[in-house]
Amino acid sequence: MVRESGPRSAKFAGLGYYLPERVLTNFDFEKMVDTSDEWIVTRTGIRERHIAKEEEAASDLAINAARKAMADARVEAKDIDLIVVGTATSDYPFPSTASIVQREIGARNAAAFDVAAACSGFIYSITIAQSMIIAGKVRRALVIGVETLSRITDYTDRTTCVLFGDGAGAVVLDPCESGEGILATCMKTDGSYTDLLYQPVGGSRTPLTEERIRNREQFVKMKGDGLFKYAVKAMVGAAETVLRDAGLKISDIDFVIPHQANLRIIDGVRNRLGVSPEKVIVNIDRVGNTSSASIPIAFCEAKDKEIIKRDDLILMVAFGGGLTWGAALLKY
Ligand code: UT7
Repeated sequence: MVRESGPRSAKFAGLGYYLPERVLTNFDFEKMVDTSDEWIVTRTGIRERHIAKEEEAASDLAINAARKAMADARVEAKDIDLIVVGTATSDYPFPSTASIVQREIGARNAAAFDVAAACSGFIYSITIAQSMIIAGKVRRALVIGVETLSRITDYTDRTTCVLFGDGAGAVVLDPCESGEGILATCMKTDGSYTDLLYQPVGGSRTPLTEERIRNREQFVKMKGDGLFKYAVKAMVGAAETVLRDAGLKISDIDFVIPHQANLRIIDGVRNRLGVSPEKVIVNIDRVGNTSSASIPIAFCEAKDKEIIKRDDLILMVAFGGGLTWGAALLKY
């Protein structure tokens, strides 16, 4: 149903991010597993990543990012109607991390839920929130991408442990007219490849047992080469879809913010789209792969450094476990 009146889209009214203080460098990993700074940098582009303290849960990171986003948007918690949190590493299996954020920030008028779309969680979450704003169900939304991947990382497995970092990014979405804010979005899923990236144990299929814990099955498992091949093609396809839907060309775009999984994937997407390096926001060297938090963290850092400015056209594109992928085009 298309409404006769009311908002036509949602805009980024404020942004915030939070990275835990503790940093693990590639040189720290050289002491933990059979790896080298040289391998990690050339194969992934990562040099260091932030790791949450033992007492820091996903909601703690999310709340820090959320408070900054609300301050940036000059918005009070009571004026938020919806909280959507994209995460694969929530505080508890249930209730949602969004519920805990709602309680802690005092957003007493907000409905709150989590979205499970792995590294595409932020794109999925802003798409859902924007749709609810356009439908008139809510006026203002707080969307957060947060991960504490260190909790599900096997620090004896060199093929995965060097990749992941913890962090959170948040955005306040306000209603706006068409031609502003989010111009187009795209969400895609291919459930045939769930085994390329997943956490095998801890859910209803294979609950935690002592034996499974002994076998380290509670940690994330990844087939990196299969993902790599799929990622570039999928991300380029999603980017082309939103450009087409918004009636824009890649040359119209001021900045591309890709999910930060691997610098070689980012370069592959950039080359296939035909974008020059200075138009692509990259922070994977300092934060690693923070899954659903990667795009809002990179966006907010670039905004704080005044690289991204109001009215810029931004193309965000993500890919992750599920497989899930998607893109969003924004006039910031
Ligand atoms: O965020 C969601 C989506 N995630 C992705 O899309 C990730 C996509 N995949 C990737 O980023 C890459 O596949 C990885 C970075 C995970 C791996 O890079 P790769 O170039 O595909 O390496 P590989 O898995 O083919 O491994 C090459 C070699 C192997 O040794 P052998 O079997 O050739 O002797 C690995 O055992 O590199 C070895 N290796 C390492 N060596 C040193 C794997 N990890 C390490 C390591 N240090 N940390």
